[in-house]
Amino acid sequence: AIDINKLRDLTGAITIDPGYKNSGSCKSEITFLDGELGILRYRGYSIEELAESADFLEVSYLLIFGELPTTEQLEKFENDIKKHSLVNEEMKSIIDGFPKTAHPMGVLSSLTSALTAFNPKSVNVDNEKEMYEAICKTIAKFLVIATWTYRKSMGYPLNYYDNTQGYVENFMQLMFKLPTQPYKASEVVINALDKLFILHADHEQNCSTSTVRMVGSSHAGLFASISAGVSALWGPLHGGANQAVLEMLEEINKDGGDTDKFLAKAKDKNDPFRLMGFGHRVYKNFDPRAKIIKKAANEVLGTLGVEDPVLEIAKKLEKAALEDEYFKARNLYPNVDFYSGIIYRALGIPTDMFTVMFAIGRLPGWIAQWKEMRENKEPIGRPRQVYTGHPLREYKSKK
Ligand code: ACO
Repeated sequence: AIDINKLRDLTGAITIDPGYKNSGSCKSEITFLDGELGILRYRGYSIEELAESADFLEVSYLLIFGELPTTEQLEKFENDIKKHSLVNEEMKSIIDGFPKTAHPMGVLSSLTSALTAFNPKSVNVDNEKEMYEAICKTIAKFLVIATWTYRKSMGYPLNYYDNTQGYVENFMQLMFKLPTQPYKASEVVINALDKLFILHADHEQNCSTSTVRMVGSSHAGLFASISAGVSALWGPLHGGANQAVLEMLEEINKDGGDTDKFLAKAKDKNDPFRLMGFGHRVYKNFDPRAKIIKKAANEVLGTLGVEDPVLEIAKKLEKAALEDEYFKARNLYPNVDFYSGIIYRALGIPTDMFTVMFAIGRLPGWIAQWKEMRENKEPIGRPRQVYTGHPLREYKSKK
């Protein structure tokens, strides 16, 4: 094998690979995906099986610690998360400083970073106990502050984690419980959310995960690294696509439902419009998560008795795009974001919280990848460049 470092020292050769389309940044045992065959597995288990039968914290444990938990291990994990679910009261004054109109993802990224101030100890990765505690803390507090971004934007009082309920149930009560009324989300809702979170839980070296690993590679703490991941996820080419999809579907609906018109726009190279929720850097056949989510969208809306015209538009758009030569030639298929927003909407989640939902789901993946990176003692991430600017110039002031 060629030793790339020796080759570089000898020749000065640097590989230019914008967007890292062909560069592997690490070896990883966490998630396997085959973009040609549409395969996704967490720690060797197929996403289809996990989405069908497992629950979110079980999958989180699997991703982070490498094996499915026993009943005792899972119970302990859930209890340890509960133990850390209180968020420092001073965090509330930070939230109060944001305008009500602030996007929840911006607030979430800031609050996650702010958690560092209240938990200043950097995680000693050689100390299993300390690492475990940091993981439970992150999982617990991230859920609470994620929902606080919504409560704040609505001007509602902030809710606290209810230790008598499970993690996903807690998400719903943290979001929607009103002060004087008891709150219990229905089983259909909990199952749908469990499935959605599992489907988003990891996706190997995507933009936000690579960001988490990169930031963590300087030995920045877990909260700081996750906060950077949230910012990376926010963009419309990544997690922000789920919000963009729904806004696009609503626009098509308002416009009279003419999907062909929007398809033509997406194909027009002079028009920056892209069909949101279509295409993927790795999946060039189909995104297995999209198949599961489409089925779930039909089931959830059917069970809840929700009739949403945007679901029909999404199906029409998908069918037309799959038959279209432009989309076929470029292997553009619906991705995980195409149908997820329709389910979120049916569950009463506001559009600008969709990417926050993605972040809650992706959290265990970020943690697992951060942990693996640190345990493998990976070097600091520091890509090279080819300089294309001016040669040496003499300084002459232009003042
Ligand atoms: N609509 C129209 N054309 C598209 C789309 C789309 N959604 N996606 C890609 N294309 C076209 C490009 O214009 C390009 O055409 P060309 O070869 O004629 O220039 C070709 O397909 C390849 O596209 P790239 O942008 O080079 O592919 P890349 O792998 O860099 O990008 C991405 C992947 C960012 C996901 C892209 O498909 C996209 O912008 N999709 C819409 C946004 C989206 O849904 N993002 C969510 C991704 S999944 C996730 O992060 C969870």
